[in-house]
Amino acid sequence: MLEIKNLNTGYDKKQVIFDLCLKVEGGEIVSIIGPNGAGKSTILKAVCGLISVWNGEILFDKKNLNHNKPSKNISLGITFAPQGNRVFDELSVKENLEIGGYLLSKNKLNERIESVLDVFPILKERFNQFAGSLSGGEKQMLALGRALIPEPKLLLLDEPSLGLAPNLLNDVFQKIVEINKTMNLSILIVEQKVREILAISHKVYSIKLGKVAFDGSPDLLLSDKEMLKNLFL
Ligand SMILES: Nc1ncnc2c1ncn2[C@@H]1O[C@H](COP(=O)(O)OP(=O)(O)O)[C@@H](O)[C@H]1O
Ligand SMILES: [Mg+2]
Repeated sequence: MLEIKNLNTGYDKKQVIFDLCLKVEGGEIVSIIGPNGAGKSTILKAVCGLISVWNGEILFDKKNLNHNKPSKNISLGITFAPQGNRVFDELSVKENLEIGGYLLSKNKLNERIESVLDVFPILKERFNQFAGSLSGGEKQMLALGRALIPEPKLLLLDEPSLGLAPNLLNDVFQKIVEINKTMNLSILIVEQKVREILAISHKVYSIKLGKVAFDGSPDLLLSDKEMLKNLFL
């Protein structure tokens, strides 16, 4: 479904990602882990079209995304919930969800909001409240819900657990498993909570200094304590 071939990219003249290859097959949850500053968020930004590809190729269903704008990628079926998952505090839950569907017709938008509310009943309860009045966990659900409004085939998630109380982590990861299963959705997810994310991933890429340091099965990585340690040194 998604294939990144020898990606090189960065900011201005600073190269951050070097010859990176990565694949996501249909229906998979694929995780990207690694130390701060390794380039994890940069990979997601390149896939969704927020930064340009210097060299290499990003393919989605065999179509080349290299020169696409984010809006084009949304219409192809790729959505992105960025790090920090900001919601608009001064807008209602309803209005936040509507922003996720700015490319949809009114009818389609209403239909999509209904199905997202079915997945996140808490958002139904809070539908007309200001997003600013939601708890951290609820805001996270809203950010996830908003990214699901365009009915993506591939969801890019950047550290959905960031800033959440430990007792809420499980709720968020369970929701991710649920939407992966029920919506026939592939998920590429950056996470710092290594144990939790490996437990729900089909495949993992560990990134170090902009390169792939390990890729393979989460079980393999978890069984090798030495490797796990080295990846974060
Ligand atoms: N907008 C930006 N402009 C310039 N450099 C950036 C920008 N965003 C990130 N970087 C740099 O790119 C590198 C990788 O950042 P990032 O992809 O955010 O890492 P990670 O998500 O793995 O923590 C870091 O050195 C960071 O300082
Ligand atoms: Mg990051």
